[in-house]
Amino acid sequence: MAIRTIRTDNDPILRKLSKTVTVFDDKLEVLIEDMIETMHHADGIGLAAPQIGILKRVIVIDLYDEDGPMALINPRIIDQNGLQMEEEGCLSLPGRHGVVKRPLSVTVQFEETDGQTYEIVGEELLARVLCHEIDHLDGILYIDKEVILEEKAE
Ligand code: NI
Repeated sequence: MAIRTIRTDNDPILRKLSKTVTVFDDKLEVLIEDMIETMHHADGIGLAAPQIGILKRVIVIDLYDEDGPMALINPRIIDQNGLQMEEEGCLSLPGRHGVVKRPLSVTVQFEETDGQTYEIVGEELLARVLCHEIDHLDGILYIDKEVILEEKAE
């Protein structure tokens, strides 16, 4: 396992479209292990492959609860409900945060390293992280969706 470098700010790779994974091999497993290690090292709760310079549709999430870290390959939102507006940050945009409108719950279909298709329902924080990480696979950053709140006059 290895900690990879997280791409930040204006790195053009963050704006590229990631490719669907079609080969489920050892290399993919190593990528996922490295992504989880890199996310943990950065104290993150989610990381998408393009953030370490790999344009593949792979995300990892760890909410540090009983579910442990999870890896989703080719994740796609197949259903969404409700609305939430919460503050987000991103390991690729250090020192910033902003409020983003997201669905309150999402159903996501994805593959695992065995090539089989699975489904997960995420609510609240998990829904937000799923949406945020899947956006990365399409070159979208949360700042593109940031809700600009009226600034209070000092
Ligand atoms: Ni991010």
